[in-house]
Amino acid sequence: MNATLLNNKKVLITAGPTREAIDPVRYISNHSSGKMGYAIAEQFLNQGAEVVLVSGPVNISLQHPRLKTVKVNSASEMYLACCHYFENTDVAVFAAAVADYRPAKVAGQKIKKDESSFTISLIKNVDIAYEFGKIKSASQVSVGFALETNDELTHAQGKLQKKNFDMVVLNSMNDANATFGFDTNKITIVKKDLQPKEFSLKQKSEVAKDIVKEISVLLIGQYEHKELVRFE
Ligand code: CTP
Repeated sequence: MNATLLNNKKVLITAGPTREAIDPVRYISNHSSGKMGYAIAEQFLNQGAEVVLVSGPVNISLQHPRLKTVKVNSASEMYLACCHYFENTDVAVFAAAVADYRPAKVAGQKIKKDESSFTISLIKNVDIAYEFGKIKSASQVSVGFALETNDELTHAQGKLQKKNFDMVVLNSMNDANATFGFDTNKITIVKKDLQPKEFSLKQKSEVAKDIVKEISVLLIGQYEHKELVRFE
């Protein structure tokens, strides 16, 4: 394989949903398939990087000699797994759809339907990207995702600042055949001090190439990326 800028770069990726237990048989989760995060992992591997994929429960499997997959369920488990790897990471991509809240108490036994109504009290989960944004070094590149229904660019720019991302991949819920479960996606890349860059609807594998290319540009900084990075 040709040497590329990403050869031996250490990449940490979160992917998929998290599951927050209610009792031993029930949980709160979301529709994330993990496809986008896994496609990004595959693209980084194609470019020679070493990847740690911290994945919530998904129906995808990816094998590669330079890939370590850490399977987790809850947001707390995802955070703890990332804590092991973040310090030695060159690039962190927070692609997981982390549940923002979890049940305040997890019942030890299956909850029975004794009452006519039932309330679950929720408490906030750790914001994984925000926590690592606080300790990120100048040489580390951090990338987040924003899935929005309205005022998309304003929200994406807000997340860029709040979570100290170098780049946000924006998805709009208003775009057909993009986001949850689809094999296609339509993104806008938002970086600090640059005009947002809109991409057309593409297969997630192609979108992953665009994302990894944009991350490479961040890594290169002042160098001309075209001569250093090859995308087949
Ligand atoms: N994220 C995370 N940990 C969380 C919540 C979000 O790491 N507990 C990451 C996601 O992986 C994504 C980014 O933060 O890269 C944006 O997540 P999102 O849920 O869209 O943003 P929030 O800041 O939680 O804002 P809101 O839900 O209010 O839109």
